Amino acid sequence: MTHDLPATGYTDGDVDTNSSEVTSLETLADQRFSRRQALFRGAGATTMAFMGTALLAACSDGDDDNASSVTISAGANAATSSGRLVTLTGSPASGTSGIASTAWGQTSGTTVTLTGTGSTVSFIAPAVSTATDLVFTFAVVETGGHSQTAQTTVRVSPSALGFTAVPHGLADVVAVPSGYTVTVMTRLGDPLSAGTAAYANNGSDTDFAHRIGDHGDALHFFGLSTAGARDDASSTRGLMVQNHENLNVQYLHPNGPTNVSTGPRPADEALKEIEAHGVSVAEYKDVGSRKWAYVQNSTFNRRITPNTPMAFNGPAAGSAMLFTAYSPTGKTGRGTINNCANGITPWATNLTCEENWAGYFRRDAADDAKRTVREMTAISRYGVTSRTGNFAWSTANSTDSIYTKWNATITGATAADDYRNEFNQYGWVVEIDPYDPASTPRKRTALGRMGHEGAFVRAVAGQKLGVYMGDDSRREYLYKFVSSTTYAAADAASTSRLAMGDKYLDAGTLYVAKFNADGSGQWLPLVFGQVPNRAASGSTPAYVFADQADILVNTRLAADAVGATPMDRPEWTAGNPVTGEIYLTLTNNNAAGRPLNGTDAANPRHYNDPKGAANTAQYGNPNGHIIRLREDGDTTAATTFKWDIYLFGADATDADPTNVNISGLTVDNDFSSPDGCYFSRDTNPAGQINPVLWIETDDGAMTDRTNCMLLAALPGKVGDGGAKTITNKDSTGATATQATIAGKAASAATLRRFLVGPVQCEITGIDMTPDGRTLFVGIQHPGEDGSVTAPSSHWPDSQTGTAAATVRPRSAIVAITKDDGGVIAL
Ligand code: FEO
Ligand code: CA
Ligand code: CA
Ligand code: CA
Repeated sequence: MTHDLPATGYTDGDVDTNSSEVTSLETLADQRFSRRQALFRGAGATTMAFMGTALLAACSDGDDDNASSVTISAGANAATSSGRLVTLTGSPASGTSGIASTAWGQTSGTTVTLTGTGSTVSFIAPAVSTATDLVFTFAVVETGGHSQTAQTTVRVSPSALGFTAVPHGLADVVAVPSGYTVTVMTRLGDPLSAGTAAYANNGSDTDFAHRIGDHGDALHFFGLSTAGARDDASSTRGLMVQNHENLNVQYLHPNGPTNVSTGPRPADEALKEIEAHGVSVAEYKDVGSRKWAYVQNSTFNRRITPNTPMAFNGPAAGSAMLFTAYSPTGKTGRGTINNCANGITPWATNLTCEENWAGYFRRDAADDAKRTVREMTAISRYGVTSRTGNFAWSTANSTDSIYTKWNATITGATAADDYRNEFNQYGWVVEIDPYDPASTPRKRTALGRMGHEGAFVRAVAGQKLGVYMGDDSRREYLYKFVSSTTYAAADAASTSRLAMGDKYLDAGTLYVAKFNADGSGQWLPLVFGQVPNRAASGSTPAYVFADQADILVNTRLAADAVGATPMDRPEWTAGNPVTGEIYLTLTNNNAAGRPLNGTDAANPRHYNDPKGAANTAQYGNPNGHIIRLREDGDTTAATTFKWDIYLFGADATDADPTNVNISGLTVDNDFSSPDGCYFSRDTNPAGQINPVLWIETDDGAMTDRTNCMLLAALPGKVGDGGAKTITNKDSTGATATQATIAGKAASAATLRRFLVGPVQCEITGIDMTPDGRTLFVGIQHPGEDGSVTAPSSHWPDSQTGTAAATVRPRSAIVAITKDDGGVIAL
């Protein structure tokens, strides 16, 4: 929802600058016993009698709440389900003396890795599609040469959600199911170098170029070996790369910011704010048994800020539209800002996405007349309309261009004399090599310029690379980039990581999505020569594209021109690692953005979600939905697809079950305003066979009932539901019907609330260790509506006890582990 800072005009994408007449809007509107067996001794090797009749009932249905690990003695049998920790114990027959060795081995069934040696070992129950028996043998060798053996069978059922749903909550803590533990990791201001002081958290701190930034958003754990090299399989050491999207500016200075709405800004305040944006790289280490800590003095630690040199790559690099006084050739740049969601490449780089960059720029009133009509069309379409810019940085008393570049007003003779084009240097997907702190990030212009939310990369050997990207503003679009080069799996191991980015991300075709009413969809190419002129609309004249660079810099205009489907704020994209289906969160829309007659099959609801004791009306699609698509032929390069709406957000208590709570949500799984979405990694049982989808919320509509949350789901697939016609109603009482395609309704088995965050936060980034036994989650902007004199949250200090009323909140990452050591959620 909106996070409007006092008079700075900042928005998180809840804006609409799409004033184009898009024909598809109208056309789609139509449309988880222990019976230790004494081991029998015999001549030579004796096999233990197998007590095969007693499978424990516990966990046998694979769908228990708070299901836990199992411990089994040799010769006994037990049942569990995928992802749960199983411990096998054995001991020699009573009276045995002189033991040479004891060992467990696997005899049959899906191969698992046994951890430990001797008489006690453990393993994680593997992913299975049907109940599967795994047989293990415990062997005791006596010094005299005799041996004893005993078999144990573990029956593994398919994965299931194994935790009790977390109820709605308004407390100032991160709440997780019983059996799980929350560890607060890196927080706003934590030092990233040996010489940087601990964060005082009283506004006195400086040098955010060596501290964790504010508003942590997307995050990813890049594994490191003990030797300090890239190791994608490591679950004990890694580099946490996190975006820092924006600021709770009221908490960054001793008494709040000075003249933040109007300027002049003290340069030291502005510098702190600037450097608190960008991206951080911080080494994380398991100090034993999944107890996590970050390494303050790691040589890998890095900050990338709005002042970090960048390179431009791809078709728009060198375009005159990118010329600035800092970059007279348009091939370089400086800085990244409003870094929201991410994308991860197979070659282990991080794609950071520049989302709401437009508002940071100042353009004085006199600038309009100095611009060409074409420039003004583009400026309007991207909303570069602030007269101060968020936080008014350009008003700092300094001539240093780290401040002045935020003023895009034409002042010089040419574009190389001022920062008139600086805003064209943002809105890109930026590739970062986390393993090389000296590397220069590369802005990948082939992926287009927009309010980039995220960039999910689907890599299938032998196919082109596909990158799925949402543009988060009201009535913006879903995009896909398809590489020119066919993906070769061997490239994933390259040590020339950014060169792999050059290979796959600099040449290809950018498409935008059109969702048809019948559940089909098309990818429309944004290729110069194929894109028509953008038609005139109202007082805005037609826009004639000059070349491919123009289409990439002004991607929204090109998408308008081809008739893409405007959506209810496209947020994260995530791909199911088994089916390849792509999920897109559509966080919400309001009545102004999409009135009753503005619905279509893919954005079908218009309704009221009353809020609070006063039943304050919220019309439009205040709770959002999640759409998903399956490419025809299952190829990344497909130009057509099938779609349905996987889930409809709703306040289960208030919502009409027929027309609003279409997915049948209950108080255990209702949610509003989905934003982050992520599938469990396919390197562990939670991401295999029937992967767990995680859904994070950035809500303002249902916050009368609960703080923002994280849900775990076991989704089905496109087409598992069916056609549905709903009746919408607007604030005047007028009604209209809308046909759509709804996925199968949710149930307690398929959707549960896993976490509720602290006061006024949003749940942002998410990733897990490859073994799935630690989940990292971002808690962004707790206490965002509070003030420096009256902070409205004291999290994370409030997580472990009562914090003083003056303690300022901090965005932070939490590590969540299951107390019994199992895979998270299962
Ligand atoms: Fe930065 Fe659209 O969330
Ligand atoms: Ca409500
Ligand atoms: Ca987001
Ligand atoms: Ca958000």
